[in-house]
Amino acid sequence: MRRIRVAVVYGGRSSEHGISVVSAGSVISALDPDRYEVIPVGITPQGRWVLTDGDAAQMRIIDRAVPEVGTGTDVVLAPDPTAGGLVAVDASTAVGALGTVDVAFPVLHGRFGEDGTIQGLFEMAGIPYVGPGVFASAAAMDKEFTKKLLAAEGLDGGQYVVARRGQQVSSLDVEHLGLPVFVKPARAGSSVGITKVTDWSDLPAALEEAFRHDGKALIEAAVSGREIECGVLEDASGEPEASVPAEIRLVRGHDWYDFEAKYLDDACEFDIPALLSPDVTERVRESACRAFRALDCAGLARVDFFVTPDDRVLVNEVNTMPGFTPISMYPKMWAASGVSYPELVDRLIAAALRRGPA
Ligand SMILES: Nc1ncnc2c1ncn2[C@@H]1O[C@H](COP(=O)(O)OP(=O)(O)O)[C@@H](O)[C@H]1O
Ligand SMILES: [Mg+2]
Repeated sequence: MRRIRVAVVYGGRSSEHGISVVSAGSVISALDPDRYEVIPVGITPQGRWVLTDGDAAQMRIIDRAVPEVGTGTDVVLAPDPTAGGLVAVDASTAVGALGTVDVAFPVLHGRFGEDGTIQGLFEMAGIPYVGPGVFASAAAMDKEFTKKLLAAEGLDGGQYVVARRGQQVSSLDVEHLGLPVFVKPARAGSSVGITKVTDWSDLPAALEEAFRHDGKALIEAAVSGREIECGVLEDASGEPEASVPAEIRLVRGHDWYDFEAKYLDDACEFDIPALLSPDVTERVRESACRAFRALDCAGLARVDFFVTPDDRVLVNEVNTMPGFTPISMYPKMWAASGVSYPELVDRLIAAALRRGPA
């Protein structure tokens, strides 16, 4: 029997390029070579698609240097489903087909990876792919629409106001939120462009900062609560299943989970599973599955929550392609739930093949 040809697509035009390369290296190492033939497709930070050697040993942080997609054979994914999938582009002469791809695994975070754009390309090309589809990816990437869709399912996303570049925000519009507020770009990640505002006079500068990343921003009432995450994975019948929840605890000196706390060493501690009462644990897991359905997700998602001191469970955001390095929360929550990393990758590919091309 022919092996399943998996295009692992990674890197990309995103601030999380390096993390994506590390995640992809782990995914490639976890794919059983007897069953899968890996086609490693790197996207450079400039957006160029190259066929790489997919050498997992190099796709990790070595001496504090984050890996980056470099050179390789230029390839394109033909949007024409009859063109045979990946096509090598030889600048001087010929264009040759590399053969078909059975399934794509976009190990990509943020814009052009997690936002529905590449999912649209896979659909055009008629290639099944791991993770949520075009709509769910776009909706989960946009913090305004995430909240709106979740609210329609009765899931609490907290109080917020939407602001658009070029439009005036009056104090009357926002003062009901109370201070502090978090001002954030609607479609970003890694905490970039986010400011905690403790004085209304700082709001214009915070909005300016958010607008550097997106023309739309959210002004959110600050929630004081614990930060809890929960992994969701599609089961063999296509239903969402929740992992054990985990808690991120900031160590002294960090007030919120900002870029530095996320990526600097020793800024946070993790409890996997989170130390929550059985009741709150169940509500978090159930809410994670409901959020997955509300956004029409498929394959996987990581749902991030706040749990308040009086045990309210609020959804902060939904990530449709969470970090996938061996030390990332998503695989660790599943490991703690009895699903090993290789099994996780297997199940995601099986789910993609079950759904088939759009
Ligand atoms: N409404 C809020 N109340 C309290 N803390 C918040 C709020 N919004 C964001 N934060 C803090 O900022 C961090 C990043 O915000 P988040 O919305 O998750 O953006 P990103 O998509 O960049 O991860 C959160 O993990 C949390 O620490
Ligand atoms: Mg977040």
